[in-house]
Amino acid sequence: MPAPLSSPACARALLVWYHRKKRDLPWRREPSAYHTLVSELMLQQTVVAAVVPYFERFTTRFPTLQALAAAREEDVLALWSGLGYYSRARHLHRTARLVVHQLGGALPSNEEDLRQLPGVGAYTAAALAAIAFSRRTLPVDGNVARVLARILGERRPIDRPAVRAGLRLQGEKLVPAQRPGDFAQAMMELGALCCLPRQPRCPQCPVARFCRARAQGATGSIPLRAKRPARRRIHLACVAVRRRGRLLLVRRPAKTLLAGTWVLPLQELRAGEAATRAARRALAGLGLRVEGSLRPVGNLRHVFTHRDARASVFSAHARGRIEIPDARWVRADELASLPLSTFGRKMIAIAQRVAIV
Ligand code: ADE
Repeated sequence: MPAPLSSPACARALLVWYHRKKRDLPWRREPSAYHTLVSELMLQQTVVAAVVPYFERFTTRFPTLQALAAAREEDVLALWSGLGYYSRARHLHRTARLVVHQLGGALPSNEEDLRQLPGVGAYTAAALAAIAFSRRTLPVDGNVARVLARILGERRPIDRPAVRAGLRLQGEKLVPAQRPGDFAQAMMELGALCCLPRQPRCPQCPVARFCRARAQGATGSIPLRAKRPARRRIHLACVAVRRRGRLLLVRRPAKTLLAGTWVLPLQELRAGEAATRAARRALAGLGLRVEGSLRPVGNLRHVFTHRDARASVFSAHARGRIEIPDARWVRADELASLPLSTFGRKMIAIAQRVAIV
């Protein structure tokens, strides 16, 4: 039988371990509400190692909420470039402006008010409340849910909302009144370093003696996950057009995949449509007409959360005046200052392999 889940002992063991083993992460060095906001938004859907350099660049360029509020969206997105999920950057920017212009410059300190901010869902509100404002609450993401499911011996799928809510309720009972923010980060750290998805390192685990999954020999089967719906396959046609050594890029419209980032002109193929035809549509939508034929220059694949995208990249000569504002002719040395997605970079790299069309 595991030791009873008497919360103070379990929390104490976890906190002692955390203080010995925690990673030296930049947002833990000089914790502030602003640093917590930036790091938690960056860490949504993204692993710690990828976030660290972005966090450092971002907070060097925008050291305060006020500096961020005063920035242009284009510059905020450029610093986010490559991190993915660009709506997070726009939400962070809007939150900074809202807090500075309407809330007197200080982030709210309770979960309910935090949740009203753009980009702040239940998880992020709880993380901010616990870490930045020492509120006794527990943010439960996929990692923390796994840790809790094992400790509590939860055998139902943890991605079911009702099960997740139950885990959170049980988990909150374990949160100590002192240092709830450290407890939250200790749970995250345990999920990242020890209670790993496939091969948990139970001999090193500070709370192994409280763990029901371990006592039942069930760490391999807990947590259970419901099946994800398959990603939708999409096929895109992208076109590289150059004029006087500059490459034509367009900005993705709001509320579309990769919103706000710069890509080659592109269109999704309709059912049964040839890629070349979709490529011509992409240019026609900008007011351009292809001269001569389209030349295929490469293919790429990119997996998004809900989409499995394949793209055919063409190059073309095109005539006409561009009719939309969100298009520009970009020199190679300007690319670094534009917000590009990883997908955008990949297609531009293919286009750049063909210097002359
Ligand atoms: N994931 C989400 N928030 C985190 C944090 N503060 N530390 C480490 N991993 C995290």
